[in-house]
Amino acid sequence: MANKLVVGSETFRGHNVVVTGAGSGMGKETAKLFSTLGANLVLCDLNADGLKKTERECKECCGDGASERRRTKLKSFVVDVGCRAEVEKFIGDALSYFQRDDDKNNPNAPPVLNILVNNAGCADMFSLSHCQDEAGLENFERALERQWRVNALAVVRLCRGFYTALLRGGRGKKSSSNIVNISSSEGTGATLFNTPYVMAKHAVVGLTKALALELGPQNIRVNCVLPGPINTQINHFIPKESKEKYAKKMVPLQRYGEASEVANVIVGICLPCLSYLHGACIPVDGGHPPRNALLPSKPWWRLEEDDDSNQSSKL
Ligand SMILES: NC(=O)c1ccc[n+]([C@@H]2O[C@H](COP(=O)([O-])OP(=O)(O)OC[C@H]3O[C@@H](n4cnc5c(N)ncnc54)[C@H](O)[C@@H]3O)[C@@H](O)[C@H]2O)c1
Repeated sequence: MANKLVVGSETFRGHNVVVTGAGSGMGKETAKLFSTLGANLVLCDLNADGLKKTERECKECCGDGASERRRTKLKSFVVDVGCRAEVEKFIGDALSYFQRDDDKNNPNAPPVLNILVNNAGCADMFSLSHCQDEAGLENFERALERQWRVNALAVVRLCRGFYTALLRGGRGKKSSSNIVNISSSEGTGATLFNTPYVMAKHAVVGLTKALALELGPQNIRVNCVLPGPINTQINHFIPKESKEKYAKKMVPLQRYGEASEVANVIVGICLPCLSYLHGACIPVDGGHPPRNALLPSKPWWRLEEDDDSNQSSKL
């Protein structure tokens, strides 16, 4: 058992890592950190420009002019993780990249994956109280369906598709292979008017717990990160002053977090020395209360009557 805490440019050397949603935010910072620590990476995102930027920054992290031995291997794919066919193609492409790269002398060697980070995600602000008519209900159901596909079902598909390669990653090795799922503080709590997202992120927590039971005996560790309010693209539409006001009221550390602060935890979970961390749902939220709802002063079906009653939308 590797139980000494050692972190350096060789920590993940030779480890094959997949990060989804790596075109921005926490996925990007996670990819950069793994690059710094020597891992081989396959990345994906919807956003082609974002991915190119991440690739460039990863190369800078491990030193563009690094020797052949020090340089990490990296390939990225434009993928919509909400689409089953695209996910299946991505899994095939990622595995053949690792296969070719791992053993050029033995092209039939089966591909190995050591770490899967299920990070890609999107936001949709909708609530049941806004579906008073047929059109409202349809919008709500569309948001729920998208949330389910992108934020929950994609995680199931990626875990299943990479399962055999992850199994090889943990087999006969000193360290286990790892799945890290990114849920949210909305995966155990809730904020107002965010119902589809809350439902999907709770599902990620449930999946993590179920897979931990299933995959632990096969030496695959499965853990989940629950970020709180973090400054990234996903919430760029919220004005800076509103974020500051919210943080002062709701976050004991009094600020939004940064993507790199979450990336440190995602990568940290996968360190070989954290060998007994399994089935955990780890908040990275500056102490944000676990049941983070701001309670409205009126029942939800009367909120529309008076704007002042909707405290949280003012934050
Ligand atoms: N920022 C926060 O406050 C916060 C809080 C809790 C949880 N999260 C979760 O953290 C994860 C990372 O988000 P972030 O905050 O870094 O936001 P972000 O928007 O910066 O990054 C998310 C990335 O996922 C990609 N993506 C979205 N839909 C996709 C799809 N269908 N297929 C492929 N890629 C897709 C986006 O293009 C983007 O590059 C998400 O799962 C998000 O739900 C974020």
